[in-house]
Amino acid sequence: FKYDLPKNEPILSYLPCSPEREALENEIKRLSSEVMEIPLIIGGKEVRTGKKGKVVMPHNHGHVLAEYHMAGPEETQLAIEAALKAHEYWSQVSWVERLSITLKVAELISKKYRATLNAATMLGQGKNVYQAEIDAACETIDFLRFNAHYISEIYNQQPISETGTINRLEYRPLEGFIFTVSPFNFTAIASNLNMAPVLMGNTVVWKPASTALLSNYILMQIYKEAGVPDGVINFIPGKGSAIGNVVFNHPMLAGIHFTGSTVTFNTFWKAVSNNIGKYRSYPKLVGETGGKDFIFMHPSANVNEAVIAAVRGAFEYQGQKCSAASRAYIPQSVWPEFKTKLQGILHELNMGEPTDYETFVNAVIDEASFDNIMSYIEKAKESDKAEIVAGGKGDKSKGYFVEPTVIVTSDPHFITMEEEIFGPVLTIYVYPDEKFEETLELCDQTSPYALTGAIFSADREALNTACRILRYSAGNFYFNDKPTGAVVGQQPFGGARASGTNDKAGGPFNLIRWTSPRTIKENL
Ligand code: SER
Repeated sequence: FKYDLPKNEPILSYLPCSPEREALENEIKRLSSEVMEIPLIIGGKEVRTGKKGKVVMPHNHGHVLAEYHMAGPEETQLAIEAALKAHEYWSQVSWVERLSITLKVAELISKKYRATLNAATMLGQGKNVYQAEIDAACETIDFLRFNAHYISEIYNQQPISETGTINRLEYRPLEGFIFTVSPFNFTAIASNLNMAPVLMGNTVVWKPASTALLSNYILMQIYKEAGVPDGVINFIPGKGSAIGNVVFNHPMLAGIHFTGSTVTFNTFWKAVSNNIGKYRSYPKLVGETGGKDFIFMHPSANVNEAVIAAVRGAFEYQGQKCSAASRAYIPQSVWPEFKTKLQGILHELNMGEPTDYETFVNAVIDEASFDNIMSYIEKAKESDKAEIVAGGKGDKSKGYFVEPTVIVTSDPHFITMEEEIFGPVLTIYVYPDEKFEETLELCDQTSPYALTGAIFSADREALNTACRILRYSAGNFYFNDKPTGAVVGQQPFGGARASGTNDKAGGPFNLIRWTSPRTIKENL
C-alpha cells in the first residue's frame, strides 16, 4: 500500500461575506458565550477530579472560556494503565487502518471543525485569524496527511532477500507508553505530538498546556469522532510536577514527545537518567525546545525585504513562536534606512483583539509571560548599552498587551541578544560592514540555541560564507526569508544544540523514532 505525497492544505482568506468567515464568527460567538467544562479523558471516559483551573482570554483575562479538571498522581497512574491496556489492541491494528483514521482526523478538521478549532485557538491562545488558520487548520492537517505519506514510505523500506530466504523488517511500535507534553503556542504541534506516535501504533499519556486547553480538548473530541479508540490518547491536564513524578517512575515509559522550554526538557532528561535502571527499554526522548533565532543582513541585501522579514519574523503572534526572530545583525551602512523603515511600519501596526480582522498584534498568553517579557524590556531601559527605538510599553489591566519592541544594543552579548524572551521583542546589533565574517562568528557563538535563522543578501558569495560559518547555528536556515512559518512537507522543522533533538516534526525522521523495528529472517 502506498499513500502518495499530498498537497498542503490551502489557506482560506476569510474575506467579508465568505462562508469560512461566517462559520468562524458563529463559532467565536458560541465559544465566547459559554464556559466549557473540560474533564480529563482516561480510557475514553470523562474523569472529574473537582480540582479545577480556568482558561481565560489573553486579551480579556476577566473572561473565562473554560474550567478544567486537573489530574493528580492517581489519575496519572490510571492514564498510564489505560494507555498500556489500549496498546495491546492498537499496536496490532494494521498500519493502513491507523493511516485511514489519521486521514479521517484531517478530513474532519478540513471540512467540519475548521471554524471551531480556529475560533478556540483565537480566543484561547490569542491568535489572529491568519495565525490561527495557518496553525490550527492548515498545519494540523498537513502534519496528519504528510505523516500518512511518510509511514507508507517507511513501511515499504525492506531489506533484500537472497534466494531461499525472506528477510523483512517489522516496524513495531515502542513497548510501553509515550508521554507527550505540548505547548500553548501551536495547536498543530499539540496535535502532532500525539498523532505521530499514534500513527506508528503507540498509545500516549498527554499533558497539554493549561492555556491551550480549549483547542486541545476540541482536538480530543475530533480524534474520538474519527475513530481513535478509547485509551489510545489519554488527556490529563494538570501540574507538570504531579504528573511527571508518576510518569518518570514508571517502568513502561517508552518515550517522551515534547515541545516547550529547554529548562523543562532538561528536567525530563535528568528524571529519566535518575530512573534509568527501572525502564524496560531506553526511553526515546524527542524534543523541540527554545530558540534565539536571528536575522543576519549583508550590506548587499534588499532593505525592504529585510525590514518586512524582521517585522513578520519578530512580531507575528507576538513573537511567541520558537522560530521567532529575536536578534538581528544589521550593517552600519544600511542601518539608518533600516531603522526608519522599521519604525514606520511598527507605527502603523494595529494592536488589539484577535477577533478583530485588522489587528496584527494581540495579547501575550498570560500574566507570567507578560511579566517576564516586561522584565527584559526594563533591563534594556536601565542599561547604558541599550536603547529602545520602538515600543517598550505594556499594559495588563484588561489583557496582556506588550507593544512590539525594538532594542538596539552596542553589546552583542547584551542579555536580550542571548536569552529567549518568547515575546514581541527584537534586539538589533549594528555591525561595521567590513566585519561581516567576524560578526557571523559572533552570531554563531552568542546563544546556546540553534533553531532558526535567516541571512539576507543579494551576493551569492556572502550566502555561501554565512551558510559555512553558521553551519550549526540553525536547524532551519532561510536565505532571504523570515525565519518563521516552516511549512510541513516543504521545510522540515527542528534544531539542535539547546533547541532540541532535531528530529524534524512532520517527517520520516520523527516517525521512525516511534518504532522499534524487528528484523525477521526466514529460511524457505
Ligand atoms: N514551525 C513553526 C515555524 O516555523 C514554529 O514552531 O514558525
